Amino acid sequence: MKNLVVYSSKTGNTKKLAEAIYDYLPEEKEIYQVNHAPDPSDYTFVAVGFRIENGQPDKAAQEYLKKFIDEKELFLFATHASEPESETVKRAMNMAKELSKKAKIVGIFDCLGEVPEEVLSEARSQGPVPEWVKDAENAKGHPNKEDIERLIKLLNSLDLPL
Ligand SMILES: Cc1cc2nc3c(=O)[nH]c(=O)nc-3n(C[C@H](O)[C@H](O)[C@H](O)COP(=O)(O)O)c2cc1C
Repeated sequence: MKNLVVYSSKTGNTKKLAEAIYDYLPEEKEIYQVNHAPDPSDYTFVAVGFRIENGQPDKAAQEYLKKFIDEKELFLFATHASEPESETVKRAMNMAKELSKKAKIVGIFDCLGEVPEEVLSEARSQGPVPEWVKDAENAKGHPNKEDIERLIKLLNSLDLPL
């Protein structure tokens, strides 16, 4: 029984969720940044996390999700600046499901993730300003303690093959 956590994270938000999932999982378990992650086929349960970038799961995560070529228990998680439940977020999460469609998705979690001020100023200076930039104010301080608690509560409520 081997558990694997894989995450893609530029500014550390998705990494926070990944580490919380890793801490939650029982042995045997491994955690990798997506560019160094092993093939998921050797693991019983895999959690894959990404950031939403330009309306999609980031490219490295997209490539990794394509590796789910057999039925495997998969938990998807993500961070983003757009409002949770927004169409942007729903579309990106659906895209992640679609890419890994051979897998059995056992749960999905997403929450806000703070965008560094310098990234926001750069995005604002390039017209047209992307949709997610106006929502980014609300993302400050996330993921926070409550987000992590919500994540753990969700994991607890799932019948994971652990
Ligand atoms: C270049 C860039 C593009 C982004 N595009 C989106 C987007 O389309 N939708 C969104 O909700 N958030 C977007 N964001 C915000 C990130 O998804 C968010 O801050 C996320 O938590 C970053 O995760 P990380 O710290 O794990 O890299 C973007 C951020 C950057 C830097």
